[in-house]
Amino acid sequence: MFESKDKKGLLPVGFIGLGKYLPEKVLTNHDLERMVDTSDEWIATRTGIKERRVVSNGMVTSDLGARASEAAIARAGLRPEEVDLIVVATITPDMPFPATSCLIQEKLGAKRAACFDVSAACSGFIHALTIAKQFIAAGTYKNALVVGAETLSTIVDWKDRNTCVLFGDGAGAAVMAPVSEGGILSTYLGSDGGYGELLMIPGGGARFPASEKTIREGLHYMRMNGGEVFKLAVRAMTESVERIVRENGFTMDQITCLIPHQANVRIIEAMAERLGYPLSKIYLNLNRYGNMSSASTVTALCEAVEEGRVKRGDLVVLVAVGGGLVWGSCLVRW
Ligand code: ACO
Repeated sequence: MFESKDKKGLLPVGFIGLGKYLPEKVLTNHDLERMVDTSDEWIATRTGIKERRVVSNGMVTSDLGARASEAAIARAGLRPEEVDLIVVATITPDMPFPATSCLIQEKLGAKRAACFDVSAACSGFIHALTIAKQFIAAGTYKNALVVGAETLSTIVDWKDRNTCVLFGDGAGAAVMAPVSEGGILSTYLGSDGGYGELLMIPGGGARFPASEKTIREGLHYMRMNGGEVFKLAVRAMTESVERIVRENGFTMDQITCLIPHQANVRIIEAMAERLGYPLSKIYLNLNRYGNMSSASTVTALCEAVEEGRVKRGDLVVLVAVGGGLVWGSCLVRW
């Protein structure tokens, strides 16, 4: 062990390997023009999205998650059987149970790992990494694989132009472990269940178990009050960034890169304006992938590092908000 414990006896924890997997099939805005009454111009100007990926050939969430995980584990220099813990954030599990983390474990051959899933919608990756960090910092586990994986194409109503243009499929994964320098400086989580009705899948759970009626009424599809979610998303993301930066004694001009949940470029622009933070320092990939819920932030982090936008010593903030409502942020010294 090369890292030393802090005053609370906790180990510093960081990311030692990142990976992503995007399905090959591309669905462009022009493709959507042939499916619903919409236009490339409407989607691009209202959301910033130009295309998204969707699964094909029977691929499911655990397949995407396993591929992203293989890349992350390889970059971390580990073998699958050395992984201690797998935490998967998803709102599109392969099935209600067993947990998608167990299915990914089996696909990876990560026989030694403890596994569970986290349900925190678009903030799922930040929630999952916060949990994993505690286990590693306390010395309970030596490492953790944290995955955000989604097949949102399976829960959107492809006849509803209000929602189907916004989402895409994909997965990102991060291996976390003790580090000798830098690492996660702080995490912050928040929620307000009073806004639960704004973004939900009403059917298929205990309230409205799947039946002919729930199918007929489309209760198994995502429902969203876009306008309200938009306003709350701007507020929650802005506050989550301000708070984590301020409480750790930094100012926004010290943050090298801000990596937000990739829902809508207008949400991100409004947040940037409120923070007085230049858009040029915010990493964006939603034009290519749309909103991939729990997979968005981790995939964006992975690409920001691959493209050299995040380098050793940089201060990076991750921030997300999602259905629940839940939100969170994470401050990292890279
Ligand atoms: N193509 C063409 N017209 C459309 C489409 C579409 N795909 N979708 C909606 N419209 C129409 C509406 O029906 C409406 O028509 P009307 O005025 O005749 O009723 C018109 O466009 C304007 O609709 P608005 O809701 O005013 O459009 P707005 O500018 O608010 O954009 C959007 C809608 C993109 C959904 C926006 O509210 C948004 O992004 N909200 C955030 C939702 C989100 O990102 N959710 C993701 C999950 S939560 C999270 O990740 C943060």
